[in-house]
Amino acid sequence: MKLDSSISAVVTGGASGLGAATARRLAASGVRVTLFDMNAESGEAVAAEIGGVFASVDVTSDESVAAGFETARAAHGGERILVNCAGIAPVAKTVSRGAPHPLDMFESVIRVNLIGSFRCIAQSATGMAALDPVSADGERGVVISTASVAAFDGQIGQVAYAASKAGVAGMTLPVARDLSNLGIRVMTIAPGIFETPMLMGLPDHVRDSLGQQVPFPSRLGRPEEFADLAAHICENDMLNGTTIRLDGAIRMAPR
Ligand SMILES: NC(=O)c1ccc[n+]([C@@H]2O[C@H](COP(=O)([O-])OP(=O)(O)OC[C@H]3O[C@@H](n4cnc5c(N)ncnc54)[C@H](O)[C@@H]3O)[C@@H](O)[C@H]2O)c1
Repeated sequence: MKLDSSISAVVTGGASGLGAATARRLAASGVRVTLFDMNAESGEAVAAEIGGVFASVDVTSDESVAAGFETARAAHGGERILVNCAGIAPVAKTVSRGAPHPLDMFESVIRVNLIGSFRCIAQSATGMAALDPVSADGERGVVISTASVAAFDGQIGQVAYAASKAGVAGMTLPVARDLSNLGIRVMTIAPGIFETPMLMGLPDHVRDSLGQQVPFPSRLGRPEEFADLAAHICENDMLNGTTIRLDGAIRMAPR
């Protein structure tokens, strides 16, 4: 899909980090972007910066997501790109100090990261299905979700997060197959460790040490590098049904 001003996109988690970088990258190519996020202050600021639209959306709610797509489509026409970046990453061990992992926390991570991504995909693809194709191949749209290397090598304390991200990676192929007759491609990016607010809360020495664990280049990933891959996935029509690790060859140690 050629990225230009005839295309519109929805980026969830677009108020911050990888989502904000992706929104900026798509907008720089002329794409009309709507940001879905619960953080209205940052979301409005990013939307104003890129000439886009902000919609206050909680990806755990059917009604909230449906209202967000209504806002996006009223402003920009039907989106042909969905990028799922909304996510949370709380930490807890399976057993800690004699107590089992809090199940409400496990469920909330699955609700946001996995079910929230799928909810946005299903609602977006329903809208995309009604659009005319944009290419001779019959392409109507592209969906990109965000897993994590934790989907494959989750660390101590990451059980809920790793399970949610393994779910995101695992649904990529079947969703791509489900949507193939509609001309909608489905891809997932599994980032390693990226410099975003999710990590900026860590002390400098911890972030430096994380960066040094990356074989090459030995540093944290930049959100722009994630955004560039998202843009390339949109543009390369043969990419479909798989998860790409974007991680400088890191394989996470247990802790
Ligand atoms: N930063 C990393 O190193 C890294 C690595 C691997 C995967 N990821 C994944 O990338 C995605 C983006 O992470 P980030 O680092 O940019 O984090 P971030 O915290 O900067 O951004 C996440 C955004 O999601 C929003 N969000 C959270 N719950 C939401 C909900 N229920 N509805 C709508 N929006 C919600 C937050 O408000 C925030 O703006 C996440 O899915 C994360 O798990 C990040």
